[in-house]
Amino acid sequence: MAAGLGTRMKSATPKVLHRLCGRPLIGWVMSALAAVEPQRTLVVLGRGVEAVSGELPRGVETVLQEQQLGTGDAVRSCRDALADFEGEVLVLYGDMPLVSGEELLRLLGEHRREGAACTLMTVVLDDPGHYGRIRRGADGSVERIVEYADAGEEERQIREVNAGVYVFAAEALWRTLAQVESDNAQGEVYITDAVGLLVAAGEKVHACPAADTAAAMGVNSRLDLARAAAEMRRRILERHMLAGVTVVDPAATYVEADVEIGRDTVLEPMTVLRGETRVGEGCSIGPSATVVDTVIGDGVTLVASHVVGAEIADGCNVGPFAYLRPGARLERGAKAGTFVEIKNSRVGEGAKVPHLSYVGDAEIGSGTNIGAGNITANYDGVNKHPTRIGDGVHTGADTIFVAPVDVGDGAMTGAGSVITGDVPAGDLGIARARQRNVAGYARKKRKEQGGTGESNER
Ligand code: UD1
Ligand code: CA
Repeated sequence: MAAGLGTRMKSATPKVLHRLCGRPLIGWVMSALAAVEPQRTLVVLGRGVEAVSGELPRGVETVLQEQQLGTGDAVRSCRDALADFEGEVLVLYGDMPLVSGEELLRLLGEHRREGAACTLMTVVLDDPGHYGRIRRGADGSVERIVEYADAGEEERQIREVNAGVYVFAAEALWRTLAQVESDNAQGEVYITDAVGLLVAAGEKVHACPAADTAAAMGVNSRLDLARAAAEMRRRILERHMLAGVTVVDPAATYVEADVEIGRDTVLEPMTVLRGETRVGEGCSIGPSATVVDTVIGDGVTLVASHVVGAEIADGCNVGPFAYLRPGARLERGAKAGTFVEIKNSRVGEGAKVPHLSYVGDAEIGSGTNIGAGNITANYDGVNKHPTRIGDGVHTGADTIFVAPVDVGDGAMTGAGSVITGDVPAGDLGIARARQRNVAGYARKKRKEQGGTGESNER
């Protein structure tokens, strides 16, 4: 179910599309579902149909709930699509990112073992908040679920709550749902009422406490989102640590779901690894590094930098304070140093861009050293142009390459040059005004201002 308004999020984005550790809420639920290998998956949509559909895996069917009349109505809207289906229907909410495939499989197992008409997942919480309460009879069997809004003082004390995952025998589900009404505090059709109706009809209902209490965590507000993210982050980091990654301070390290990290890599504090990032073995990342959708080889050192859509080969050195943008490719042993921005450019094997430079749309050959403060002037205000710098080139400090321009292998440029034409291999390109010294000018100036002319008089 993913059609709800998500009112408590106070958001223009549908609730199930809010992201948590790199995936939308609905994406987490979908990946838990995958473990169950359902014959069919139906997602009930209402708000932001297009946007939510776009985040669903292939093969998932969508059902439109015209009006958000409640969770029972949401399930009802699947009835036609499932008219000929006779098996087990697993019903769950799109806002429970911490539910795992394992828990779902366990629930299905219990359902089959018990031969129940309905099996639901519960959790026992110290603070049961606004979850639906599980009312059990004197013999311990489930009587019904009471929604928080409808619960009396005494019922609110119950600490066993409804996680929001149910397995129903299809026939029992449709038969019972037809009887559910909306005569409750919220005026909604509750799926939870199906449970009590089944019990009243003498059918077997089994409630199965989850092994993992976080599995039940429903995200209703931004507070819940942050809490669920903290738990998810802890789980992700734990997985990496158990696989041989050192995380110096897990409380200050943020790794999204799909990131891969090799053994013996050290994540220093304030490291953020996002998206499709892959980090090799024996790297040192951080302190203060953000890396997004980037492939990093083995033995890379990356300190205090922002890296997006780049490729960094084995043994490279990045930062502090480098900004690598999409298409930046550092080959083996290359360096992008302090206050260096690189975009859509290849920096060859062992080449260095150590200080204060902008490299855009450029090819830099292997073993080349770029002087401090070099700039590729790649944009003429209309088009982008390439700069090609060969192997073993040595550029002077403050060289500006006005692209398109080619610098041959083994060439040099003079400090402060504005290179507008090609520099052939092995040559020196120098393009700056010659220096002229005006004899005695400074001394004369001081005397005019009433001094002796010496530089230390003030
Ligand atoms: C629900 C349960 C509550 C349980 C809690 C667990 C009901 C009535 N209550 O409450 O017992 O403890 O989850 O997290 O089911 N939705 C629709 N269409 C609608 C209404 C909701 O598709 O008309 C979807 C929402 O998008 C959401 C899910 O159903 O993903 C749950 O709805 P929500 O309003 O969050 O239910 P809770 O109040 O959390
Ligand atoms: Ca909820």
